[in-house]
Amino acid sequence: MKRPYIICHMVTSADGKVTGDFLSSSACERATEIYYEINREYKRQGSGGFICGRITMEESFTGGWYPDLTRYEPTDSLESCFFDKTCGYYAIAFDPKGKLGWKSNVINDSDEGYDNAHIVEVLTSQVDKRYLSYLRDMKISYIIAGDSEIDVELALSIIDESLESEFYLLEGGSIINGSFLRADCVDELSLVQAPVTAYADSKPLFMNGTLLEFKLVDAEEVDGVLVVRYNAVGRQC
Ligand SMILES: NC(=O)c1ccc[n+]([C@@H]2O[C@H](COP(=O)([O-])OP(=O)(O)OC[C@H]3O[C@@H](n4cnc5c(N)ncnc54)[C@H](OP(=O)(O)O)[C@@H]3O)[C@@H](O)[C@H]2O)c1
Repeated sequence: MKRPYIICHMVTSADGKVTGDFLSSSACERATEIYYEINREYKRQGSGGFICGRITMEESFTGGWYPDLTRYEPTDSLESCFFDKTCGYYAIAFDPKGKLGWKSNVINDSDEGYDNAHIVEVLTSQVDKRYLSYLRDMKISYIIAGDSEIDVELALSIIDESLESEFYLLEGGSIINGSFLRADCVDELSLVQAPVTAYADSKPLFMNGTLLEFKLVDAEEVDGVLVVRYNAVGRQC
């Protein structure tokens, strides 16, 4: 299946974790700034947007709000639906059961690297069909890809057919990153490594990862932070 090129862009601890208290430690401050700077630079270079798991989207943007679905009738169609194919920048949420409550169809954020991205929900057929009516009402685009789990490759092929960008950022967290790695849909790693270790409850870069070979293409020290890029062997944008 034809799919876009995927760059997994993440802040990590020195011991390869991506969630938990280390992210708000002073030792991680500069790494986080550099992470956002690189995100904005990818946008300038033509990134089609960012892909995140439901938990990350909830923490970063929706804050747990949810619409009253009793106001909506269930849809009778499971066809994917796009309300904006031309804006060029998308916030793609892997949300299999439709748990995210959005108040707008675009991201409103103070960081230009996220602001104004048109929201695309990636769902499974298990979603409450009234949620699809809510998305239509809000003009939020959506894709149905899979029955219980999201079929990562199928979702990316629908994105490729429907939107124009050649590459997207995969920006966590650990669970979604792991599902992309297992589906062999991570083409490049863009890691900003903070000089700090993490508590035991922090999750790794790839939850339930697998063996895949990468080639180091760049490594740079910036203000005590290690910024590295790897390509999956045989892949290049
Ligand atoms: N270090 C960084 O650069 C960075 C970047 C982003 C986020 N984060 C951190 O990451 C944390 C969240 O990470 P996380 O690993 O707990 O969660 P996550 O990956 O953000 O979200 C996981 C959820 O997304 C859905 N999902 C993702 N992939 C799926 C697939 N292939 N099929 C079906 N469902 C899929 C599921 O939703 P349901 O539970 O609804 O089934 C799953 O539980 C946040 O606390 C945030 O601070 C760190």
